Amino acid sequence: MRKYEEIIMAIEKRVEQGILESGSKLPSIRTLSEELSCSKNTVIKAYEEMEKNHLIYSVPKSGYYVVEGNPFSKKRSAKGDKIDFLSAGPDPKRMPFLDFKHCINQVIETYKEEMFIYSDVQGLYSLRQELARHLQDLQVFTVPERISVVTGSQQALHLLISLPFPNGKTNICVEQPTHPSMIESIKFQHVKAIGIEIHKTGIDFQQLEDIFKHQDIKLFYTVSRFQNPTGYSYSNQEKKKLVELAQKYDVYIIEDDYMGDLDPNRKQDPMFAFDPSGRIIYTKSFSKVLFPGLRLGLAVLPEVLIPSFLQAKFAADVHTPVLTQGALEIYLKSGMYDAHIKKMRDMYRRKGILIQKAFREHLPESVTYSNMISGFYSTVELPSPLKAHQVIERLNQENILVDDVGKMFLPNYKKDNMIRLSVSQVEEELIDVGIKKLANVIRKLL
Ligand SMILES: Cc1ncc(COP(=O)(O)O)c(C=O)c1O
Repeated sequence: MRKYEEIIMAIEKRVEQGILESGSKLPSIRTLSEELSCSKNTVIKAYEEMEKNHLIYSVPKSGYYVVEGNPFSKKRSAKGDKIDFLSAGPDPKRMPFLDFKHCINQVIETYKEEMFIYSDVQGLYSLRQELARHLQDLQVFTVPERISVVTGSQQALHLLISLPFPNGKTNICVEQPTHPSMIESIKFQHVKAIGIEIHKTGIDFQQLEDIFKHQDIKLFYTVSRFQNPTGYSYSNQEKKKLVELAQKYDVYIIEDDYMGDLDPNRKQDPMFAFDPSGRIIYTKSFSKVLFPGLRLGLAVLPEVLIPSFLQAKFAADVHTPVLTQGALEIYLKSGMYDAHIKKMRDMYRRKGILIQKAFREHLPESVTYSNMISGFYSTVELPSPLKAHQVIERLNQENILVDDVGKMFLPNYKKDNMIRLSVSQVEEELIDVGIKKLANVIRKLL
């Protein structure tokens, strides 16, 4: 256990023992750091963590206070209720509400009515400049003129799959399984989609080449890191190979890098870095690491597609709301985004390690599971004759929630023996408990 977590436990104990009552003031940072022989920064981290979790609150120039109504016991009983491997959004407790509230206030002060009138369909130019700078950290070097702000990256995916492409081809190719909103977009727009199975070890490149060669593929949609639902991340070598195949057969690639910020390995390049000419359409989301409700994402488009893409976007929603665009610009410029992401990156890396360890230690040998090094998702493939719905029903009875991967397949590729687990809303100390219960349920049903 890390030192700041020990401090949180020490405070929790004092609340439990009645030494600290609801509403009472916590020891000052200096007092506690002397008492527990640790640095002031460690106490500050512990207090900030408890404040984020709504266990304590701060009063400027006064100090920190325990929230009314014994919040620590509420936190424990909420944990006792269920372990939620189902929710696909970030944990609201980790969302930087206060910082973002300041950005919203500041953007109204700075830009005034400009935030409330019709705006550029492609997005605020000043935000796009900031996004171009931010993308450099992800090895995506581009100009604001090629970036379109979108109303969630899902909007870019939805529009792109039905647009005519310069290669004149009509079908698309997608990993199987893939994220469920993409499946919905394909169904809703009657796009012909060919699947390529993604395994624990990635995809079969020979099969992909055959698909590119014979199936009139205009674009390949791929999630290059922390794929939803498998958690798979392509190596740099695999990404290079994908780009070469796309060049050879004149196929475009949509590289969905929705959680690229979370990659602990900063040497991982996106496919975009291997071919910035426009063949790779790079998309990014702010939903998984910031706020899904903002509906903010971006697409880096080839010049030739910009007019038709913007026409389609205009028809869909005229433009993405300006107020949230402005607030994001300030959030990025101020360095708050980088600081937040660093915390998220560390947390999801730790969660990745914990869930992999729990899989290794508890799951029966006949069960296969995906490798994920960070991000939210992993999948577990159940041995025959088990079906996902049976396991999900039994787990629900034990207050463990997981998702059925069935809806993440195209109709012809469906599997009914896979479940998805998301760690985003599971506290680190509950990951092992949850996987142990999953393993027990599987053993009982077998
Ligand atoms: C792989 C993947 N790409 C894109 C999205 C869409 O994200 P956004 O909220 O930015 O539309 C999701 C949402 O879950 C996703 O899982």
